[in-house]
Amino acid sequence: MSKDTWINDILAGQYDGQDIELKGWIHRSRGSNKIRFIVIRDSTGKIQCVAKRAVLGDDFFDELKGSLIESSVILRGKVEATDREHGHEIQITSGEIVGAVNPDRPFPITESAMSEADGGETEFLLDNRHLYLRTSRMTTMLKIRSSVFGAIHSYFRNRDFIEYQAPNFVAGAVEGGSTLFEVPYFGRKAYLTQSWQLYAEAAMPALERLYTMAPSFRAEKSRTRRHLTEFWHAEMEIAWASNNEVMKHGEGVVRHIASTLLDERSDELASIGRDLELIARYADTPYPIIRYDEAIEILQSKGVDVEWGQDLDYSKEKILTADFEVPHFLTHYPRIAKPFYHRPDPEDPKYVLCHDLLAPEGYGEIIGGGERTWSEKEILERIDEEGTPREPYEFYIDTRRYGGVPHGGFGLGVDRVCTWLSGADHIREVIPFPRDSRRVTP
Ligand code: 4AD
Ligand code: MG
Repeated sequence: MSKDTWINDILAGQYDGQDIELKGWIHRSRGSNKIRFIVIRDSTGKIQCVAKRAVLGDDFFDELKGSLIESSVILRGKVEATDREHGHEIQITSGEIVGAVNPDRPFPITESAMSEADGGETEFLLDNRHLYLRTSRMTTMLKIRSSVFGAIHSYFRNRDFIEYQAPNFVAGAVEGGSTLFEVPYFGRKAYLTQSWQLYAEAAMPALERLYTMAPSFRAEKSRTRRHLTEFWHAEMEIAWASNNEVMKHGEGVVRHIASTLLDERSDELASIGRDLELIARYADTPYPIIRYDEAIEILQSKGVDVEWGQDLDYSKEKILTADFEVPHFLTHYPRIAKPFYHRPDPEDPKYVLCHDLLAPEGYGEIIGGGERTWSEKEILERIDEEGTPREPYEFYIDTRRYGGVPHGGFGLGVDRVCTWLSGADHIREVIPFPRDSRRVTP
């Protein structure tokens, strides 16, 4: 069995006046004992089909009339261009029910359940996530998400980056111990990786330009609008590069994602109310750069209680992003605010050569990256000053012992980028099965 007729092609006028066979699911059904108006959906759209008792005969008409929402069907009939909604209709002549929904268990995601839930937020919809995926809002998000993934792959592949995979079971932290997931590992302890980075640095002398897209794990106890415990992480690492060159790729990939969405997903973005001019601005306008110290001054001038040396949390980023129309970089964080792998600035080692990219409209950090400490002496000093044991990082230190070179990279939170570019309120809206501290099901 295969399918060769798609609703979006019918709506585009490709089959006007022709007999076709449509495979899909019943989305809505209304009408009388003589005529039914049945909206069928597939992965590409929705179309109204007209079923008449006089044409179909009693048996199939009654079967169709009794079929509940989300029953799967094959319908045959003629495509007519009309002046009604969407401009096309199918006059059904025959068909069959493939998977009938049991009337004792109707599809639980009803219009009223949806209208109570703004963007899929209720526990009920999260419990029924496997069914909620079929709603048009979620389908739209998943298509946007697919284009974001495609754009990231094409950005790096078109620039000679090699896709490279690192292990997910690891022995040490990358981004600090407080968000490490510990897992029993045959009588020992292992952790789920927070980032691909350290293993990418090991391959940096072999491949020089590498990237990945993979899940990363963070035991984030608090549930926020931008944290998942399992998120998709696009990371890159590049040899012989400074912080500025790494930032150029960060800006490059984000702008490429925005322009890809305009090319591929304008209809979907418009359907969820996203202003396409904003996306065009994110694709076309250069991203400004400010230093951490300037950000602290801006915050203090706005009366925010913030001290030099603190990492900036979401509440502070949100205030900062209010002044910007496009994403902007913050560079040169204090050494004490960042993990050991960040390279101290040779001009003033109180700072490290790093960057965060903050998305506007209050979304905040979408990228973290920078230059790496690359001499053996400096990396040992940084590990020791953090009080981190050296042992799990011996392989990492070897990267410096055997021909270390200046290099850097970044990590981009793919789900966060999807949230921002689709204008969603919550990161859970853009991933099929969100994971947070309270939820590992369905
Ligand atoms: O800033 P982070 O922690 O940096 C790193 O992991 C580096 N090792 C990356 C590198 O240089 N290769 O994380 C990078 C990005 C953040 O900017 C954010 O977008 C995303 O990953 N991120 C999360 N996204 C969703 N849920 C979470 N709990 C996230 N934690 C980080
Ligand atoms: Mg960060």
